[in-house]
Amino acid sequence: MGSSNSKKKLHKSKTVFRPMSKVALDEIKKHYMVSSTALGRGAFGKVFKAQSLTDENFRVAIKVLNKKNMKEKDIEELGGEVQILNQLDHKNIVRYYEVYEDKKSLYLVMEYCSGSNLYERLTYQGIKYSETECAKLAQQLLLALHHCHSSGITHRDIKLENIMITEDNIVKLIDFGLSKNATKEEMMKSMTGTPYYMAPEVLEEEEYTSAVDLWSLGVVLFTCLGGYRPFTGANFKEISQAIIGCKYKFHSREWSGISRDAKDLISMMLTKEPKKRISAEIALKHPWFGLITEIKLDAIVKKEQTVRGKTMTKLKKFQKLNPLRRCAIEFLLNMLSDEEKQYYEKEFNKFDTTKSGMISDKDFINKVQESEDDLSNKEIKKLMKELDYDNSSQISYKDFLIATLDVKKVLTKERLDTIFNKFDTKLSKSIDVNDLMEVLSSCSFKVTERECEELIHKYDISDTGYLTKTDFKLVMLHS
Ligand SMILES: Nc1ncnc2c1ncn2[C@@H]1O[C@H](COP(=O)(O)OP(=O)(O)O)[C@@H](O)[C@H]1O
Ligand SMILES: [Mg+2]
Repeated sequence: MGSSNSKKKLHKSKTVFRPMSKVALDEIKKHYMVSSTALGRGAFGKVFKAQSLTDENFRVAIKVLNKKNMKEKDIEELGGEVQILNQLDHKNIVRYYEVYEDKKSLYLVMEYCSGSNLYERLTYQGIKYSETECAKLAQQLLLALHHCHSSGITHRDIKLENIMITEDNIVKLIDFGLSKNATKEEMMKSMTGTPYYMAPEVLEEEEYTSAVDLWSLGVVLFTCLGGYRPFTGANFKEISQAIIGCKYKFHSREWSGISRDAKDLISMMLTKEPKKRISAEIALKHPWFGLITEIKLDAIVKKEQTVRGKTMTKLKKFQKLNPLRRCAIEFLLNMLSDEEKQYYEKEFNKFDTTKSGMISDKDFINKVQESEDDLSNKEIKKLMKELDYDNSSQISYKDFLIATLDVKKVLTKERLDTIFNKFDTKLSKSIDVNDLMEVLSSCSFKVTERECEELIHKYDISDTGYLTKTDFKLVMLHS
């Protein structure tokens, strides 16, 4: 888990956590009904399912971390981690929403992933995935890793337990952000002595890069396809030796029915020398994935690559949102289901030619020029600036969704209530300057009191000095 220096510029805020003075659980219970049975438990705490009180369709998972088990430095850094993870926005990566803190615990509110983790699937549920199904899982995991790595983030703890699989075999990578500073000994303890997925350079305590994730993914794929672990031993030392010696075998009993391509790709991942190990980006182009890509006629491919007029119009009209509107729409995005986002995702993919989950300036310019001949290069660059909220020189999936989303279509009454309550911190049926300051700064928006006053004034149609729900609806729908 953990991350290394993100290439993206982040909005720094003084505090990432909700203020200490508040009892976090009481705060959480204002918005969610928390289930008493744990979805899972790991080395650092338990994960619970919770449901929004105002919109029963909006479910989240809350990871409760006992601060006693964490180092002071880890607690501090978790704030930064969540900020970085907030920038990750990918269908195959769990979304982190917010963090609360009180004296005893940290509470990470995140997207709820239905289904179970890959370890449970393979063991307790005894599911055996076919080679084609494995290729589909591998492709999604590589897309997720390519997105992380091109954002400067290394997961560091890729293993069966940290991969959620929905009933429809959609992959979600979970468990980012804690063992960043863990030493080998601490890792040993937290992994109950099993370094199965650790890359040789981690065990040899050398400098490591994002290549460690590809090694671990190699172990995951080997285990899924072969039904046994590539590196085993009676204890930590023996397993480590097997890994360092890169000793693994494709035993013919288990592997005879599996394609040469699959074995080839796994071998490229289980390559001892990190520099020679395949990257996620290159791995995505491996012939093994030919297995799952249908052959398409040129004409169909061309049609599928053309951006819809509606998307282009929305993008062209887009103007940077003020922090209140941006934050409210971000809350709304968190509530959308993957199905609801499907249309936008397809459109996004037409721009994202490198499959990194981000649109580069080059890709953006090309696509706009392809479909619009009335915009000059200068105008396109200006448009790109409007869209690229964090000045990262790329358009994230979130930026794209915010610009193209049909808010009217997805803003149900329940969702409006939920978002309103998020801002209405005192649940007083009104949003005042203090509410706005608190929520915006906890969501990493840099705002002054003066700016908050102006924002309230802008939408205060009822002229009460604060925002009522009717006023707030305007915040959401006004464009
Ligand atoms: N967002 C989530 N949705 C559903 N289940 C989850 C979610 N996050 C974690 N879990 C379950 O809880 C388990 C432990 O969570 P994880 O974040 O991996 O904690 P740890 O750091 O303790 O390993 C996971 O293996 C998974 O089964
Ligand atoms: Mg875990």
